[in-house]
Amino acid sequence: MSNNLLKGKTGIISGALDQNSIAWKVAEKAHEQGAEFTLTNAPIAMRMGDLNELGKKVKAEIIPADATSIEDLENLLQKYMQILGGKVDFILHSIGMSPNVRKGRSYSNLNYDWFQKTLDVSALSFHKMMQTAEKLDAINDWGSVLGLSYIAAQRTFPDYSDMAQAKALLESIARSYGYRLGVNKKIRVNTISQSPTMTTAGSGVPGFDVFFNYAEKMSPLGNADAESCADYCIVMFSDLTRMVTMQNLMHDGGFSTSGITETMIEELSND
Ligand SMILES: NC(=O)c1ccc[n+]([C@@H]2O[C@H](COP(=O)([O-])OP(=O)(O)OC[C@H]3O[C@@H](n4cnc5c(N)ncnc54)[C@H](O)[C@@H]3O)[C@@H](O)[C@H]2O)c1
Repeated sequence: MSNNLLKGKTGIISGALDQNSIAWKVAEKAHEQGAEFTLTNAPIAMRMGDLNELGKKVKAEIIPADATSIEDLENLLQKYMQILGGKVDFILHSIGMSPNVRKGRSYSNLNYDWFQKTLDVSALSFHKMMQTAEKLDAINDWGSVLGLSYIAAQRTFPDYSDMAQAKALLESIARSYGYRLGVNKKIRVNTISQSPTMTTAGSGVPGFDVFFNYAEKMSPLGNADAESCADYCIVMFSDLTRMVTMQNLMHDGGFSTSGITETMIEELSND
């Protein structure tokens, strides 16, 4: 159903790899809601994923960019402005990757070059996107920049490893850059802290099924899926949230404020 919430708005959506990706659903919904945008992903993901299929469906051009490369980001924003003929109203940062998690390193045996890669890909890239956009004056006043986070930024989930630090940094960058862009351009910057979701990035974390099921049982509304996360992103890009900034917004079915639930009590009871 469309309410044309994003009619007249243009933007950039990163991180759609396949149909399970949160960014994939955001692109479908942004299109439904009347937005025009370009899609972007790392050059390697263009070969692995199905991004061309999505591009056709939502009538979006695809501009490859490694989000850790300033040169690629400059090219992304400049090409975007040529294609869509103006500045962006919204940017979705939907990017995360840890080589330590991928390669099964324990938290007490991290490879520090990989740790830095985790931080660069999953958090600094958010800063790089905004700094590059600010230098090129590529975001319209009252624009909206959004990143996706996870509650491991605040609480320990052992197998989330160095991604926990990356998410803490991502959320901190949203506050610091949100201040700056707010004062200078009335642009808002937020992160959405999403439930565990069955995607390539999500299910790459060891024991993911267990903490997916645990979160489901600990959330009064159940886990928020990728589709509902995309709905929240659309609202955050719309004018309905123009005064919300520098926030980490929990989108987790109530997980973060539940001490215990009856489902968990039943599960853990001996009788
Ligand atoms: N799936 C979950 O359980 C969950 C929960 C909370 C937050 N998130 C966050 O949501 C975001 C999207 O992840 P997803 O779950 O949709 O998984 P996904 O694997 O579909 O998306 C991750 C994307 O990051 C891209 N990427 C990796 N390195 C890149 C680089 N150098 N440059 C540009 N792009 C790069 C990948 O190509 C991929 O498209 C991530 O920030 C993730 O941490 C996911």
